[in-house]
Amino acid sequence: MKKILIAPSTDPCPIKNLTTYVKQLEDAGADWIHCDIMDGKFVPKRTFDYLILAFIRKETKLPLDVHLMVQQPMKVVKDYVKYGANIITVHYEVFIDKLSLINALQEIRKMGVKVGLSIKPETSVDVLENILHYIDLVLIMSVEPGKSGQEFIKESLIKIAYLNKKRTEQGLDFLIEVDGGVNTTNSSIITVSGADVLVSGNAVYNSDNRRKSMDILRGKKEL
Ligand code: DX5
Ligand code: ZN
Repeated sequence: MKKILIAPSTDPCPIKNLTTYVKQLEDAGADWIHCDIMDGKFVPKRTFDYLILAFIRKETKLPLDVHLMVQQPMKVVKDYVKYGANIITVHYEVFIDKLSLINALQEIRKMGVKVGLSIKPETSVDVLENILHYIDLVLIMSVEPGKSGQEFIKESLIKIAYLNKKRTEQGLDFLIEVDGGVNTTNSSIITVSGADVLVSGNAVYNSDNRRKSMDILRGKKEL
């Protein structure tokens, strides 16, 4: 059985407690730290930026999985890489055409980090056709980006299964990451559909036993 990676997200945690939370997550067995960056334009909320990422970097050796929910990612990518990102995910919806998207993906890879591409719930998975070989990861948004604590959109399972099939057919090795509304009840159907990495905001943050919750999300222990 393949190993499922758990990437708890920073979003539910107040900024002043972030470094402590990240340390706790590493101690509890998290695989990655999913850093939600929001600019107040692509999504209404505004969160922290690369200067705070630098503090997170000092607290953990875990890969920092930076999810850029920002309108102009190419203006800031270099800073996030400089301050410790290992994976940079940008949104399909912010690019004006396929050429500028592919240029951006190549530019990010050249900076020495893994590159991810995310699609919002209303974006069809078909748009990723012919782009999959430029990326290391697809991030399927299973809620409307912008905040934690929303309900998982079931139609996302079809996108995950489609990507899983394409990956096999095309002999590719990108990871499928799922973000939004993932919890200990729906995680198994999400991984059975083909997900490799589960982002979790509330299900981990509000758990009184984070190690156990992450193990259940991975499918290691029964509820
Ligand atoms: C939503 C963020 C998510 C969020 C997930 O826009 O991208 O990473 O923190 O939180 P939950 O798991 O609570 O939906
Ligand atoms: Zn996210």
